[in-house]
Amino acid sequence: MIGTMSVRVVVREAGVVDSPADLALLDPGELARAERKGRAAPFVTGHALVRRVLGELVGCDPAQLAFERRCATCNSDRHGKPSLVDAPGWHFSLSYTPDVAVVAVAHGADVGVDVEDLTDADFEGFAAATLARDEVDGFEGLTGHELLEARARVWARKEAVLKATGHGLVVDPSEVLVSGPGEAPALVDWRAEEPRPGTIAIADVDLEAADHRAAVAALTAQPLEIVVGRQPA
Ligand SMILES: CC(C)(COP(=O)(O)OP(=O)(O)OC[C@H]1O[C@@H](n2cnc3c(N)ncnc32)[C@H](O)[C@@H]1OP(=O)(O)O)[C@@H](O)C(=O)NCCC(=O)NCCS
Repeated sequence: MIGTMSVRVVVREAGVVDSPADLALLDPGELARAERKGRAAPFVTGHALVRRVLGELVGCDPAQLAFERRCATCNSDRHGKPSLVDAPGWHFSLSYTPDVAVVAVAHGADVGVDVEDLTDADFEGFAAATLARDEVDGFEGLTGHELLEARARVWARKEAVLKATGHGLVVDPSEVLVSGPGEAPALVDWRAEEPRPGTIAIADVDLEAADHRAAVAALTAQPLEIVVGRQPA
């Protein structure tokens, strides 16, 4: 009954903390990148979380995992969407804010995750920067906290899609139309020049961090089964 199977996406959330145990999991390349950050803790929490979750699911020592990157735009291996080396079929995505890191892992489907802090959605030009004209109606009547929630929700859906495809924000998010904040998550239209993903499923993710919203997208025709957990501090 392949037609009714779902793709399982394991989503793990962690609060950002300074943790020597997290730091000890990173490889020299990650440590060098962490050192270049003004505040390293979100990066360290995020990358350690990737290693812990993948280590668990793939069945390896988290510190031994190796990653590579590939840019969907210029094909460089120095930036772009990261993937696991020597673990065929496994896909993951990472997103973090100053306070929260979220990782999504799937087997057999490219996956993207995005987490947004509500306060980052609190700016005048939000609609112009992120929405297509025909998406604006979905926000009518919303004010205050509700408006920020709606913006963060829709923004997370769009960015999750663009992280699943590997384009990132090279594609203008206003050309990637998703369902409105009160509707079930879905890709509604793709108006970018880059090729539209064949099939894509989107799911909102309920986090413990009440002031954040998150979404997952996967390149699959199957429905998603989202399994959310929180990494103990
Ligand atoms: C990917 C992107 C949307 C992330 O946005 P963000 O809101 O700043 O950050 P998030 O916390 O949600 O995600 C960051 C993580 O996404 C992952 N990532 C980076 N590029 C990615 C891509 N193209 N697709 C999917 N995931 C990507 C990495 O794990 C990254 O973490 P790291 O930088 O610590 O390694 C943004 O950085 C972007 O658009 N990058 C593409 C830039 C690009 O390709 N330029 C053209 C070069 S030719």
